[in-house]
Amino acid sequence: MRITATRSSRFYICLIALLLCHSYASASAGSAACAACHQAICESYKATPMAASSGSTGSGLIQERFDHAAFDNPPTGFRYRIYQDRGAYSVEFMKPDGTLRGVKALPYFVGSGSSARSYLLAGDGYLFEAPVAYYSGTAKWDLAPNYDTYAYPYLTRPAAPACLTCHSSFLKTVPQTQNRYGAPPFGEGGVACERCHGPGESHIRKMTSGSREGGAAILNPAKLDAERRDSICSQCHLTGEVRVMRAGRDWQSFQPGGRLYDSLTVFVRSGTSPGMKVTSHVEKLAQSACKRASGERLWCGTCHDPHVVPNPARRAGWFRQKCLSCHDSAACRETKAARARRQDDCTTCHMPKSPVVDAQHVVYTDHSIPRRPRTSEAGPPRDAGLVVFGGGRAESRDIALAYAIAASRTRDAAFQSRALTLLQEAEHNSPGDVEVLLYLAELYRNGNQEDLAVPLYQRAIRLDPAQVTASVGLGGIMMQRGQDAEAIHLWQDALSKNGGLELVRINMAMAQWRSGDLRSAESSLVKAIDLNPGFATPVEMLQRLRQQLRQAR
Ligand code: HEC
Ligand code: HEC
Ligand code: HEC
Ligand code: HEC
Ligand code: HEC
Ligand code: HEC
Ligand code: HEC
Repeated sequence: MRITATRSSRFYICLIALLLCHSYASASAGSAACAACHQAICESYKATPMAASSGSTGSGLIQERFDHAAFDNPPTGFRYRIYQDRGAYSVEFMKPDGTLRGVKALPYFVGSGSSARSYLLAGDGYLFEAPVAYYSGTAKWDLAPNYDTYAYPYLTRPAAPACLTCHSSFLKTVPQTQNRYGAPPFGEGGVACERCHGPGESHIRKMTSGSREGGAAILNPAKLDAERRDSICSQCHLTGEVRVMRAGRDWQSFQPGGRLYDSLTVFVRSGTSPGMKVTSHVEKLAQSACKRASGERLWCGTCHDPHVVPNPARRAGWFRQKCLSCHDSAACRETKAARARRQDDCTTCHMPKSPVVDAQHVVYTDHSIPRRPRTSEAGPPRDAGLVVFGGGRAESRDIALAYAIAASRTRDAAFQSRALTLLQEAEHNSPGDVEVLLYLAELYRNGNQEDLAVPLYQRAIRLDPAQVTASVGLGGIMMQRGQDAEAIHLWQDALSKNGGLELVRINMAMAQWRSGDLRSAESSLVKAIDLNPGFATPVEMLQRLRQQLRQAR
């Protein structure tokens, strides 16, 4: 299990400065405030998946069906059923033999459902991802991606701010926590106007007063230089292999008009292109001959008007017109007859829809604009290095973190040893960089070098009391060393920031038990079971503990 670090304390100071500065310049007004004057754009934008990318269940662009809402999942041995009761959605899970049953409410969805929808559940005031998803193509519910590796319905994967930053706007995070939010967790479900146009209050004030002096006081992405223009779409549409936040930045640092590179660095594998991912439109387009030959002239906005999704009847003509803004229709090598059979829809042959490697049951459009549809793609050699997307240079601490993050996902030994060397160097150069301290400490701990990890964790806790990783890791080492009281103290702190750290809670119960505090151990286990009723470990521990409690009486 990996718990990624939250912001550094330095970041908070930055953020406060930024907020103050922004409130003087212009504040966010919310999309509804634009409708008074831009009614047509607001109406058509509302109907796009981007505008409706998250919200309260029961709302949005699609209405889920419930006639295929129960399924068995043999690997976990559980049966799931999703149902709706007066508009409120819930997921029920049970063992087929009836020995275990639980229900969790699903108050929010993530993903418009144009191809799929994920859900969030609340537990003890924290938000977690739900283990079930809805697949619109087949109108069926199934397990969400990456949940089949658990032997029980896993209910405490934290709903990360990163996830909600891409899928919603004006996020209401609760400081000093990893996954506690306001209710609802966002000011607007989906991508608000101001995510692309920047804060609009000054613009509205100016337009209301009728003054036109010195411009409209709002950003038009199309009028920015290419890097700043592309940064707006890339903040959400470019994931690469690894995204590393620049020192002191977080997921919400980027503002339209800025350069994405000042907030984060996107790394991709060198060498051959990896398979198509859900969020690889920017990478794929960059590979196309069209983009390579046209440079800055071709961008997302060449083919897409973000305020409109062309309706099916207009679709082929809409995109054909875009292609023909650069190509002569005679340039195509295919015969007229063959093209006519496809209504001369350029995209059916040159931008076909293909399955993606990181999500099941969904297909996405191939933005590498191939001459002929690709049959299959070989992934990169496993040891292909990481390079900055677009070929720029990266800070050495960002490269160090990129390898560390990639290594933590792939367990690749070459990446791990590269990360170690680079992180040691980065720690030497900036001993107050909390992210660097945390990843270096984790590597030491994984390599059984606890003595080296301890001072790094301690420094990270001093520098940034808000993060969770150091308390979790240091607690583990303390428990190994028999210092149960310290471990319990550290873990209580971690659990106040994310109540769903199930392994931490179970280990804490063990430490409490070992130090003779059977009542606290009991309540820790009860809570662990409440959060993940299907997880057998705490259930068995609680049985044994209660046996001991009975014998003691
Ligand atoms: C009171 C009316 C009014 C409201 C409310 C309003 N706008 Fe405008 N907006 C205008 C007018 C008028 C123009 C044309 C200004 C010009 O051409 O000088 C404009 C122009 C724009 C432009 C183009 C700027 C350019 O340089 O090309 C954008 C983008 C824009 N508005 C976005 C928004 C957004 C986003 C909101 C909501 C946060 C919003 N507007 C709210 C009246 C309004
Ligand atoms: C704040 C994050 C964010 C930004 C900024 C953003 N997108 Fe999106 N976009 C999304 C998400 C999330 C979806 C998926 C919506 C869904 O189906 O849930 C999406 C979907 C889309 C789609 C599919 C159809 C549709 O209209 O929803 C297109 C096309 C698209 N984006 C183009 C763009 C372009 C062009 C830009 C830059 C001008 C841009 N996006 C900027 C997050 C963003
Ligand atoms: C870096 C931005 C980003 C992050 C982080 C992100 N997404 Fe997305 N997601 C997107 C974009 C953009 C799309 C649109 C798909 C595409 O690229 O075509 C999308 C598509 C989806 C879809 C399919 C929507 C549809 O109907 O087409 C779901 C479901 C989804 N995301 C859920 C999630 C969840 C849950 C998380 C967090 C655990 C998450 N995403 C994290 C950007 C992001
Ligand atoms: C995903 C990014 C994105 C979102 C969200 C978005 N816009 Fe835009 N908007 C753009 C881009 C890109 C352009 C420039 C289009 C062009 O000229 O090619 C633009 C142009 C405009 C313009 C000026 C040009 C015109 O067509 O009149 C207005 C006004 C505007 N947007 C208003 C809005 C409003 C209001 C909303 C919310 C309802 C909104 N936009 C949401 C990306 C976005
Ligand atoms: C901004 C201009 C521009 C747009 C828009 C554009 N292309 Fe291109 N495309 C180019 C250029 C330039 C080349 C390279 C031409 C060459 O090498 O002769 C190219 C090359 C291609 C190739 C050859 C690919 C290869 O690997 O050799 C195909 C196929 C193609 N385009 C199809 C399309 C289709 C289909 C569309 C619309 C969906 C489109 N293009 C939109 C500029 C564009
Ligand atoms: C040469 C034209 C072209 C360019 C440039 C382009 N797209 Fe697309 N895009 C398409 C076509 C065609 C579709 C399929 C639309 C459909 O099926 O209705 C599409 C679909 C999408 C979708 C919906 C999901 C999917 O994969 O089907 C998203 C999201 C998207 N594009 C994002 C982007 C982003 C981000 C950029 C800029 C990096 C971009 N596109 C640049 C032509 C283009
Ligand atoms: C029925 C499928 C089909 C349709 C529809 C189609 N193409 Fe093609 N296109 C092809 C094939 C096949 C080739 C040749 C590929 C090769 O030589 O390997 C080609 C080649 C091309 C090339 C590269 C020419 C060269 O060799 O430099 C361009 C550019 C192109 N098409 C553009 C378009 C545009 C624009 C449209 C829509 C107006 C379109 N195509 C519609 C199948 C199609």
